[in-house]
Order: sequence, then structure tokens, then C-alpha cells
Amino acid sequence: MNLLLVCLGNICRSPMAEGALRARLQASPFADRVRVDSAGTGDWHVGEPPDRRAIACARGFGVDIGAQRARQLQAQDFHDFDWLLCADSANVREARQRAPAGLGDKVVLLLDWSGVKPGGEVPDPYTGSAEDFRQVWRLVDSAAQAVVARLATP
Ligand code: 4NP
Repeated sequence: MNLLLVCLGNICRSPMAEGALRARLQASPFADRVRVDSAGTGDWHVGEPPDRRAIACARGFGVDIGAQRARQLQAQDFHDFDWLLCADSANVREARQRAPAGLGDKVVLLLDWSGVKPGGEVPDPYTGSAEDFRQVWRLVDSAAQAVVARLATP
């Protein structure tokens, strides 16, 4: 299964979600069954590492996301990935607008799809505090655990 985490800038929420999911998969028997990547609907930060506050937050939870580099969502992603898991509903709208014909249904909300919270969104921490980043981590890590638990269910 190929999973693409999507947010706006690809420097805060989706890199943290990618890191959390990678870490939970690596600690599970399913690491080789899932490919994980992330992308942003916007292009402002392409080529940059995650926001330093996101890197510091992830490090505080024992996960190194410093080697990630931001990229923008591409049309090819809709072919390459089974699901595009979005942080919020604006990301869902943006991504669906760019979906090649027939592939828009691959775009869903991460917290909804994972079963963490129906219709739930991961709030943008970009203008927020360190505590806002920690709250993002807790949300995306809950989703990561739920994805792994689903893989474990026959
Ligand atoms: P992200 O946060 O979507 O979680 O990566 C943001 C990062 C950058 C911007 C907005 C949100 N920005 O406007 O540059």
C-alpha cells in the first residue's frame, strides 16, 4: 500500500505525519508493506527541510525528520499512491481539484480515513506555539498507530 501525506506547505504537518507513520511502521511487522511519502499543495517551501519547530518536536518524540525535503503535489502522485491523506479539508479541496479524471476519490482526510476522528482535521501549527506542534504530533501519531493497527487486522 502506498500512502501520501498531504498538507499545505509540506514543512509542518505532513512531514510530521510521515515521520510518525514511518516510525510506527518500523516498529511493526508491516514496514515492507507500506510506502510512505509526503507533499504540499503549495510550492513556497519546495526543497526545504521541515520547519525547525517540527524537527524539534519530532525529535522530542524520538523521531528524526530532518532529512525530509518539501515537494509539491504532482499529478503523477494520484497514480503512484493508493491514498492521499490530507491534514485538513482545504488540502482535500485543493488536491481534488488537481486530480486526474477518476482519481479524486483517493483524496481523504487523514484523521477520518484512519478512524481517529470522523471529519477530523489536523490544525495548521505554522503560526502557533510549541504546544500546537506537540498537539499536531499527538494527532498524526494517533493516526499512524491506527493505520498500523488496521494492517494487523486480517
Ligand atoms: P503545513 O504548514 O501545511 O503544515 O506545512 C504550513 C507551512 C507553511 C505555510 C503554511 C502552512 N506557508 O504559508 O508558508
